[in-house]
Amino acid sequence: MKQIVMLEERREFLTQALKLVGGCVCVSALAACETDVLKSSNIAVRYDVSQTSELSTIGGAVKQAFDGQNGGFPVLIIRMDDDDFLVLSSICTHQACEVNLPGDGDPNIWCECHDSVFDRSTGDVVNGPATAPLQRFEASFDKSTETLTITF
Ligand code: FES
Repeated sequence: MKQIVMLEERREFLTQALKLVGGCVCVSALAACETDVLKSSNIAVRYDVSQTSELSTIGGAVKQAFDGQNGGFPVLIIRMDDDDFLVLSSICTHQACEVNLPGDGDPNIWCECHDSVFDRSTGDVVNGPATAPLQRFEASFDKSTETLTITF
């Protein structure tokens, strides 16, 4: 019971934080709103893609947590091309539930809490009630070392 209360408090905190961060970014940097690439901490982490078989093929996706980044929630890492990865927050922009990992061939990312649907290739909203896209993190891939650098 205590754990459920803590999760609800965490969800409410994250919902308010997302609204605050989104509002500040939209006011101060319109370009960031247009691309939905939001940097919140400027902390870069490196991820060895070769250790994850799901990411060996284009279209592959995994959920991965990075030691307290993204509010403690994992991110979705999706291989878009040989040397291109999309990194999205798993925090639903409606009320901060954790979205599902997209299934093989599924063009969408689903949130089971209230059935919001996001585009797997952009994080944009396909169906509400969510109205904002999933937060997108900057990511660069070094093909020679198979290392993905994600900036939170
Ligand atoms: S929290 Fe995801 S749809 Fe409501």
